[in-house]
Order: sequence, then structure tokens, then C-alpha cells
Amino acid sequence: MATQLATDAPAFAYQTSPTAIDAFTAWLKDNPQALPANTNQWDVSRSDIYVEDRWQPIFAEMRAKAPVNHVAESPYGAYWNVVSHKAIAHVESLPELFSSSWQYGGITIGDPPADVDPAKLAERQLPMFIAMDRPEHTGQRRTVAPAFTPAKMADMEAEIRRRTGDVLDSLPWGEKFDWVDKVSIELTTGMLALLFGFPWADRRLLAFWSDWAGDVELTLARELADTRFAILSQMAHYFQRLWGERMAAPPTGDLISMMIHSEAMNHMSPQEFMGNLVLLIVGGNDTTRNTMSGIVHALDTFPDQRALLEGDPSLIPNTVQECLRFVTPLAHMRRTATADAELFGQSIKTGDKLVLWYLSANRDESVFENPDKLIVNRPNARRHLSFGHGIHRCVGARLAELQLRILLEEMHERRMRVRVTGAVERVRANFVHGFRKLEVELEKR
Ligand code: HEM
Repeated sequence: MATQLATDAPAFAYQTSPTAIDAFTAWLKDNPQALPANTNQWDVSRSDIYVEDRWQPIFAEMRAKAPVNHVAESPYGAYWNVVSHKAIAHVESLPELFSSSWQYGGITIGDPPADVDPAKLAERQLPMFIAMDRPEHTGQRRTVAPAFTPAKMADMEAEIRRRTGDVLDSLPWGEKFDWVDKVSIELTTGMLALLFGFPWADRRLLAFWSDWAGDVELTLARELADTRFAILSQMAHYFQRLWGERMAAPPTGDLISMMIHSEAMNHMSPQEFMGNLVLLIVGGNDTTRNTMSGIVHALDTFPDQRALLEGDPSLIPNTVQECLRFVTPLAHMRRTATADAELFGQSIKTGDKLVLWYLSANRDESVFENPDKLIVNRPNARRHLSFGHGIHRCVGARLAELQLRILLEEMHERRMRVRVTGAVERVRANFVHGFRKLEVELEKR
């Protein structure tokens, strides 16, 4: 097993660097042709429909008329929309036919830029098991899965509860503040720092890196590729240092140490190790963050449901599932056909890109009655596809559920009602689905 990573520390001060979204917005001003006016209503790759929260009727129409349909032209090239619950579960249950592999294009609608030298691309590609097929996927998933067993979750519960309580106790009452910044980012970066044994003072770096690694629209901006690479190299360098420290120390309970000292690590290259760390940071970061914001927004939008929950805290676990359904923190995953196939009456060709819109599956009226309403005691809320389905189903689902449950329990404990009283800004993206800003005030219920 090699232990050396070939990365130099780039001179990057993250506090003064633009966030991924600000850099892309500035770039788009100079390059408006990258997102020309949308002429196809069913081209749902356009982030404006998510930022303006008007995607619901478009997907409802597709579900009714053509649950698998082809979009011939988009800023991301041609792709198939897969929008019903049944069709998405079907595609995800055939991982050999519908590949996740980065060699075919990976797991998001955005392809790597066509004009990048393939050798450079391979060098910049961090191998992550979410973008691998069997058998590689199986072996690597096994390395991190033990960190998320029910027993491990039970070990973490007291610490997560303590940190959640501390964050909630630090909030001002009766005064406007941004829930995304003060609660969602604070809690998710803190939890990841705990999981990785990551230096506490630097925890906000995790959110900064995650945004640059996970923003799919960035693939449209060739000019930002070098900035993105520099930022991710800084992250690699940082983790390289942590890796060195943990290698030298006896095994501890944190995930980095567990991975380094595991048997499977002997078969993993430093790049693969790094790729999997990035996957955990991105996977565990904006997803959980956006659910924490989405829960508050959804309960405020449906005060009757908030009242029901406030009167009966035994509904908290089901509310977590219902909010995961309602929010759908990742709008889509992508697969690529490895052979010609028939899919719900459509002819898919080898190499075709299929975009699985979880956002739509979770509003599928054939599965969820009255799907556009949050219903905290919905009997089948657990059937949501927010964590995906099949061999790639989210490995961190239990941890996410634990954090969300504890957040609601600790809010209940403090008789904390959160009212949205100011600006609501959604994320401008077609992959991550959530909130950039959510101004709220706390009141006692
Ligand atoms: C995979 C969603 C939290 C780590 C996935 C997938 C989805 C997802 C949709 C892909 C499924 C597929 O391709 O079929 C979410 C949501 C979360 C969340 C909505 C929070 C609400 C987390 C957390 C972690 C994590 C907390 C870890 C710290 C991963 C990893 C994978 C994954 C490692 C890859 C699994 C594989 O390919 O086998 N997640 N996730 N996720 N998630 Fe999560």
C-alpha cells in the first residue's frame, strides 16, 4: 500500500475565496450562452425551476403522460427523464445494465468537459465507490459501511445530542437569524468533524469543499475547472496530513483511522482512499444540511402538521421520513445504459444517459396520496426514494436519520417553534436541492 499522495498545498485562503455558487453566478453573467432560454418544458436540467420552486407541475405532467421520456437537447446534451417511482426503482435494481461508473459518465447529469485531455481527466478523477460498478463497488463500500451500523449509531447518539443541544441553546429567541448558517451548516459540519475526527476549528472547510465538489452546474463552466481543482487539491493536502497523523497513531474510533487500519485498505490506493473521503464529505454534508433547513420550512408551510407534531412527539421518527420525502435533498442520480434496452415502452440505446428524478418519484401520486402536502403521520412515508434504491442506497442513511430525529427531539424538548419570517433563498442547482438562506425567528410553543 502506497502512503504518499502527490499533491502540493495550493495557496488558497478559503475565507476569502468565493463559494462555488457565487463563482458560477459571476461566470454565468459573462457566459449567458451556457444556459440559453429554455424551449423544451420537459428539459428539467434547468436550475431556474428549482431556485424558483416551480418544478412540481412539470414533473406531474411527465408522470401522467410519459414517465420515461427523451430530451434531445439540453446544456448537458441528450438525456432520458425517468420520473415515476416504479421506473426509477426498476432502473436502480439493474446496476449491470444501468451503470453508475465514472467511466461512462458517473452519477450526475453533468458530463466531464469534452475538451479536456482524457489523460488529465483521469488524473483529476478521484475514484469514489458511488461512481463504480460491481465488483469494485462492493469491496470499497465494505470499508466504510461498518462506521454506520446500528451499534455505531448508538455510540454516537449521546455526542450528537449534546452538540445539537449546544447549537440550539446558542440561538437567539424572538430575533431574526439565518437557520441555514446557524443551525444546518453548524450541525452537519460538526457531525462530520466528529465522524472523521476532523479538527473542530476547521470544520467549516468541510462545507466549503463539499460545495465545490458537489455543484453539478460547474461542469458547464470550463474556466472554473482549474479553480475547482485547486480547491479540491487543498482538501486532498489537508486530508493527507490527517492520514499521516492517524497512520502513525494506534487505531481510534474515527472513520479515517478505521479506514486506514482496515484490512480492505491494503487493497486501496491513496487516491481511492481520498476519493472515498470526499464522497463521505459531500454525501454527508449538503444533503443533511438541506433536510435540516427543509424540515423547518415544510413545518412552517403546513402549520396544521406542525401542530399535530407538537401535540404528539411520538410522530418524530415518521416526520423525519416524511420530511426526507417532501424535501428530497438530492434531486437526481444518473445512470448510463451499458446495452440496448426496453424501458417502460421506450427504446434505450447503449451509452444513453438516464436521469432518475427522485424529486418526482417522491411526489408520485400512484404511491403517495396527496403528495404535495406534508403529512407527518403519512403511513407509507418510508417509501420515499431520497436515499436511492438498490446496491448504491445511501450508506449514511442511518446517520442522517439519527441527526434529524435528534434535532426534532431537542427542539421539542425546548418547546421551540421555528417560524419563517424573512428571506428564503433556494440553491441554484439541479442536483443538490435545498436552501441557501432561511431567515427565521424562534418562539415558545
Ligand atoms: C449514496 C442521499 C446522507 C454517504 C447516496 C445516494 C443518495 C443519497 C440518493 C445514491 C443512491 C443511488 O445511487 O442509488 C442522501 C441523503 C442524505 C444522505 C438524502 C441525507 C439526508 C449521507 C451521509 C453520509 C452519506 C450522512 C455519510 C456521512 C453516502 C455514500 C453513498 C451515498 C458513501 C454511496 C453509496 C454507494 O454507492 O454504495 N446518498 N445521503 N450520505 N451516500 Fe448518502
